Amino acid sequence: MSGGARDWIAAARQPLRGRIRVPGDKSVSHRAVMLGALAEGSTEIHGFLEGEDTRATAAIFEQLGVRIEAPAATGRIVHGVGLHGLRGSGQALDCGNAGTGMRLLAGVLAGQAFDSVLVGDASLSKRPMRRITEPLALMGARIDTGAQGVPPLHIRGGALRGIDYDLPVASAQVKSALLLAGLYASGWTTVREPHPTRDYTERMLAAFGWPIEYAPGHARLEGGHRLRATRIDVPADFSSAAFFLVAASVVPGSELHIDAVGMNPRRTGLLQALRLMGADIREENPREQGGEPVADLVVRHAVLRGIEVPEALVPDMIDEFPALFIAAACADGRTVVRGAAELRVKESDRIATMAAGLRALGVAIEETPDGAVIEGRAGKGVLFDRGEVDSHGDHRIAMSFAIAAQLARGEVRIRDTANVATSFPGFETLATRTGMTLKPA
Ligand code: S3P
Repeated sequence: MSGGARDWIAAARQPLRGRIRVPGDKSVSHRAVMLGALAEGSTEIHGFLEGEDTRATAAIFEQLGVRIEAPAATGRIVHGVGLHGLRGSGQALDCGNAGTGMRLLAGVLAGQAFDSVLVGDASLSKRPMRRITEPLALMGARIDTGAQGVPPLHIRGGALRGIDYDLPVASAQVKSALLLAGLYASGWTTVREPHPTRDYTERMLAAFGWPIEYAPGHARLEGGHRLRATRIDVPADFSSAAFFLVAASVVPGSELHIDAVGMNPRRTGLLQALRLMGADIREENPREQGGEPVADLVVRHAVLRGIEVPEALVPDMIDEFPALFIAAACADGRTVVRGAAELRVKESDRIATMAAGLRALGVAIEETPDGAVIEGRAGKGVLFDRGEVDSHGDHRIAMSFAIAAQLARGEVRIRDTANVATSFPGFETLATRTGMTLKPA
């Protein structure tokens, strides 16, 4: 998708040092565009993620008749058309690589007076959509998928009714799709989760003036209200900061400051896991920004030890496992991950992709259906062999192996890295500025 290099060459260089800021939160940026588009009035978004995923969502709303201005990089003004102001597009709506974009949009589009087709790239076209189409069908939605329940989604818009639904998997995307459909439904939509997930949809609906009841693991709203434009300040994405938290933890001599990172507790499970492993990460200047907790993080190198990752942390660090696997490989002793089968249906099968890459760099790792057992290499001198790993077009895998390479015996070639631009534009430049060695192959 991006014009960037497809492969990287990364190598060991020096400690990570300095003060950085990572781009805006992907989850918040998607939702800000969506709710801004459906609101009455103009919503200002500050700190918008200029990634391919979130730009794809903005482009789709433009295709549906919403005017969106970009007065500055990371700024957007979304001129909302109101709940019923979208216009159907004769063309397919391309979500690119973004599962969040597609699943949340399906909820919005199911309740429209027009039909839509949602398509995605090769990775998204393999991802499971029945988790949303089945509960949306209970609401009266008519959505056809490809064989095996994968995209494209052919959505015939129409009347919806509220449901009371227990999510079988902890998924903020599924929860959000149902809540967004619930805006258009008659009566109440209630969603319960087996474990609380990120609550940005709930918080943002409230900020846009929609009455909603929510608590961890539970949300409930009634159709037929209005969204009123507001200002959204997007915090820096904890999931992007995560790569630097791990990199500075494992590279000896590092001390890195990461400013104004979003600290929503449903996102910061990795911080807890790393601390259990012995990481030295300090939170400074905790404060609120646009209704979200943020803090400056200071991370110093520390000797990590292997742990059994508490299963209760899994949903709060679901996007951070590729980085955690690298930390585990650098630790002293064994790390065990369980209860994380969802990793198999992310942008790639993250258990299989990480296992293949780690093995290629000399790390002993055993895959299990819902996790992995990783033998840490601390005490074995050089932590990773030189070699070649394939990210399978998965942004988070590519960035994770760039960290591993900083501790390798020689150069590591990382294949298929262009999709890093979906979530972290400028990663290469920022990583290089901290002291990492990373260049296009
Ligand atoms: C997201 C929810 C998570 C996460 C994804 C973003 C969101 O997905 O992995 O990167 O913004 O709601 P699931 O809901 O599939 O767990």
